[in-house]
Amino acid sequence: MNVPTENLKYINWPNNYGDPQWFIHDRFGLFIHFGLYSAGARHEWFMTREKIDLQAYKKYFDYFNPDLLHAKQWAQYAKKAGVKYVVITTKHHEGFVLWDSKLTEYKVTNTVIKRDLLYEIVEAMREEGLKIGFYHSLIDWNHPDFIIDGLHPLRDDVSKRSLANRNMDTYIEYLKGQIRELLTNYGEINYLWFDFSYSHRDWGWAKGKGAVDWRSEELEKLVLELQPNILLNDRLDLNRGIMTPEQFQPNRLNKENNQPVIWEACQTMNGSWGYHRDNLNWKSSDTLLKMLIDTVSKNGNFLLNIGPNGRGEIDENSVVRLKAIGEWMRLHARSIYGSKQSEFEAPIDCRYTQRGSQLYLHIFSWPYKHIHVKGLAGRVSYCQFLHDASEVRFAEYDPKEVITSTETTIDRDSVVLNLPVQKPNVSIPVIELFLK
Ligand code: GLC
Repeated sequence: MNVPTENLKYINWPNNYGDPQWFIHDRFGLFIHFGLYSAGARHEWFMTREKIDLQAYKKYFDYFNPDLLHAKQWAQYAKKAGVKYVVITTKHHEGFVLWDSKLTEYKVTNTVIKRDLLYEIVEAMREEGLKIGFYHSLIDWNHPDFIIDGLHPLRDDVSKRSLANRNMDTYIEYLKGQIRELLTNYGEINYLWFDFSYSHRDWGWAKGKGAVDWRSEELEKLVLELQPNILLNDRLDLNRGIMTPEQFQPNRLNKENNQPVIWEACQTMNGSWGYHRDNLNWKSSDTLLKMLIDTVSKNGNFLLNIGPNGRGEIDENSVVRLKAIGEWMRLHARSIYGSKQSEFEAPIDCRYTQRGSQLYLHIFSWPYKHIHVKGLAGRVSYCQFLHDASEVRFAEYDPKEVITSTETTIDRDSVVLNLPVQKPNVSIPVIELFLK
């Protein structure tokens, strides 16, 4: 419908989905997990991990009061970090909704804060020029008609497992109504991030849920009717949409049957999506940057998560990382936006990205004096560090030059870059090679 023919080469991109070019170009997004679980502060799954029933979970609703949530500030952090789009949780598995829904009382406007926070966040992000994605949970542990399965907080309560009192169709109608509200009342939404399907799971007394249970085809149709240009992820269990590997860096996801796919790695800073006070598994800023670069070097997007705390503030550990990434992005955005995998093979400890005839060499581990880049002999016209545009001089094989023991040997097909002894003062130095 909307998709130019060049996009049809992606095997996970049907032609009735929106045009994904902005997404492929932008490469870097911010995931935001925020809900009642932010106040529990021990991972967004604690309701089910601790098998908490609705009554006991209600205290998080009663005391929810993110009084320090300033959407503009979130948006400024996002913008400065260098992301181009944001994916915000409208509802997570706990079932609490972050907007003023007409379909449930379990919503943000019925908490102490009383405001439609989703509206504020969307407005603020748009003002910063960021595109908007909605994460929406297919799973709902609050809805009385959602059939209990092995992931549900009440899974051990055998008396509650009975199907008699639960009607999944009623739940799906509710789910569709939510989607209708979200895609009607909040302007143009660029990306819908459904979560998640688990039809392969089987607990004996219950099976996991997937496309049949969610009535995914209907959901997909509704979404596209309401927002024809929207992008969809792959978690409806329909075997299409943006692939979303989570919490690992795929070794090789760029090609299936030798055809490219559109994909996005989603990653936490510390292993938890929701705010987790006592979790100290923080990845360093350098590690996160390397993950971003590694993803783009394999034609993927990177969706980096933050979990603001119960007062609606982004905690210091996350802020430090967002700032460090933003500082690197300020100087190196050229190697990320609009860049993709290169056909050249990167030297050891390095990653390439490429944008047209500019090749970007990201140096993960600083070597001594030389980097030999293969396959580029006669192809390079100029080289510089990206952060300060200082020339990087290079040498090529020359049959007339005698190679002495004080100089490196140059392969006929290689270019040798001459590096300063000291690593430049940026976390991941990038050399920009202009190709002939
Ligand atoms: C999941 C989890 C979850 C998280 C998400 C992000 O599968 O259930 O808590 O929101 O994926 O990728």
